[in-house]
Amino acid sequence: MDVLDLRNLPDFTADPYAYYARLRAEGPVHAVRTEGFERIWLVVGYEEARSVLADPRFGKDWRTSGRWVAPENPISANMLELDAPHHTRLRRLVVREFTARRIEELRPRVARVTDELLDAMVPAGSADLVDALAFPLPMTVICELLGVPDLDRDTFRTLSNGIVTPTPQQRAGDPVGAMSAYLVELIDAKRRTPGDDLLSALIRTRDEGGDGLSGDELVGMAFLLLVAGHETTVNLISNGVRALLDHPRQLALLRADPGLLDGAVEEMLRYDGPVETATFRFTREPVRVGSTLVPRDEPVLVALASGDRDPERFPAPDVFDIRRAPQGHLAFGHGAHYCLGAPLARMEARIAIGALLERCPRLARDPDGGEPEWLPGLLMRGVRRLPVRW
Ligand code: HEM
Repeated sequence: MDVLDLRNLPDFTADPYAYYARLRAEGPVHAVRTEGFERIWLVVGYEEARSVLADPRFGKDWRTSGRWVAPENPISANMLELDAPHHTRLRRLVVREFTARRIEELRPRVARVTDELLDAMVPAGSADLVDALAFPLPMTVICELLGVPDLDRDTFRTLSNGIVTPTPQQRAGDPVGAMSAYLVELIDAKRRTPGDDLLSALIRTRDEGGDGLSGDELVGMAFLLLVAGHETTVNLISNGVRALLDHPRQLALLRADPGLLDGAVEEMLRYDGPVETATFRFTREPVRVGSTLVPRDEPVLVALASGDRDPERFPAPDVFDIRRAPQGHLAFGHGAHYCLGAPLARMEARIAIGALLERCPRLARDPDGGEPEWLPGLLMRGVRRLPVRW
């Protein structure tokens, strides 16, 4: 079996789509070598991606696999690294906080934070959009929701980046240990002085059987919500604005009819979504994917970015078309682990992009902005900076 080494492909991070297209043409699943794995199965076809994501024969909890021994860390006690029934129990404890209705209550606050960020940004005439808007908006919203104090947010940002998109220097440290220690301290502080926030509520919460969250589960939940809550949405806003600036006719359409905004955000998610590959899964038994039999206890990576460019599902998939209505895209995953924060992410992106276009009628890329610096690794898709002017 040939194993394709993704580490040696020139420009894979800058433009993975051409590689994914070639792989899809050869078959829906491939054995590849990545930074972390000598061999991992990469699912690139839309139908196969969707069925793997919904199939319980693909597990998430490495502790139940026959193959891996990973260092025990409280952060791993989170729902995205667990399977039913543990996953179901944890998800049920927070799901009511993230329903579309609950999230709607946050709309005025999200709009106010956006306005404040744009008030600070607009007079300058140019900015790094990631730094000025795309990052601080979701970061502020999720930190306020959970109750992370203002003063801690820079520390939190560094710790979080160090885990999700680390520089080589950060990887060499112990980013997971540092994050875990920070969260243990934060939770202790909330126990002593509860606030009107989600983390304090989670400390008090009990399920139907009267069970609360254990110490590790609280750390895992805080970690997942905080990190998933901002590392992703930043890239939805910045990838979405990049797509508009690179497609002036689509931008003009949207400016002419702001009613197209919700659909435009869906197309941004499909065309260049923030999460390139879902978090890894493993086979609990031998499973056929397409015509390939993937053996038991093998790691599997579902390339959401590839499924969403599969021409079998989305005709002319490389065309960015804000009127396409790409229902069924995989940007938020699928199945039991479907993104809990999708309503929040959609609302933030719609508000941020809508307000940005309104306040900056001549928004364009900054020609002196230099080459894009792509986020490393296969998990996230985005740029570290997006220099723009107006
Ligand atoms: C545009 C922004 C976002 C994108 C593209 C995104 C994408 C995803 C994807 C693809 C998954 C599934 C991963 C897998 O199956 O391996 C996921 C899960 C999850 N996301 Fe998001 N996410 C976004 C924003 C958010 C926000 C704002 C929150 C938080 C409040 C959040 C919380 C979660 C949680 C808790 C899970 C795990 C759910 C489970 O295991 O049942 N996400 N997200």
